[in-house]
Amino acid sequence: MAEDRAKLLQALNEALSAEYGALWLLPQHMAQVEDEELRRQLGLIADAELEHAEKSARMIYELGGKPNADLPQLRPRSGVREILEAHVEGEKQSIAIYERAMTFTEDPRMRKMLAEMKGDEEGHQRLLERSLARVKAG
Ligand SMILES: [Fe+2]
Ligand SMILES: [Fe+2]
Repeated sequence: MAEDRAKLLQALNEALSAEYGALWLLPQHMAQVEDEELRRQLGLIADAELEHAEKSARMIYELGGKPNADLPQLRPRSGVREILEAHVEGEKQSIAIYERAMTFTEDPRMRKMLAEMKGDEEGHQRLLERSLARVKAG
């Protein structure tokens, strides 16, 4: 349906913006984090978000659209706890976007790509929440 295609394109552009937002923040946050393991984890998340940005853009082209995402100038956080909380929130937003995008397509291949990206974000959320719990426990 043409209407669903437009909605899917809009959701994919939102996803692309969310990925850019994470990619804009992550290097600044990695530079602040002293814990080597946490920095490594954030780096792995950044790798995944870069891949998601490319996949979302590819899907937009496949649908005959053009990427018109924004680079959200999000406020960089200070302190490990605030950093983790901000990224947990970001992951939740991305999960919601990919979940919504899936409702606009019946195409099995597109649904699979969206489901995989949603699954990646859920993994990131769990990882970040575990680190946050450790920080809170001191
Ligand atoms: Fe992502
Ligand atoms: Fe993520």
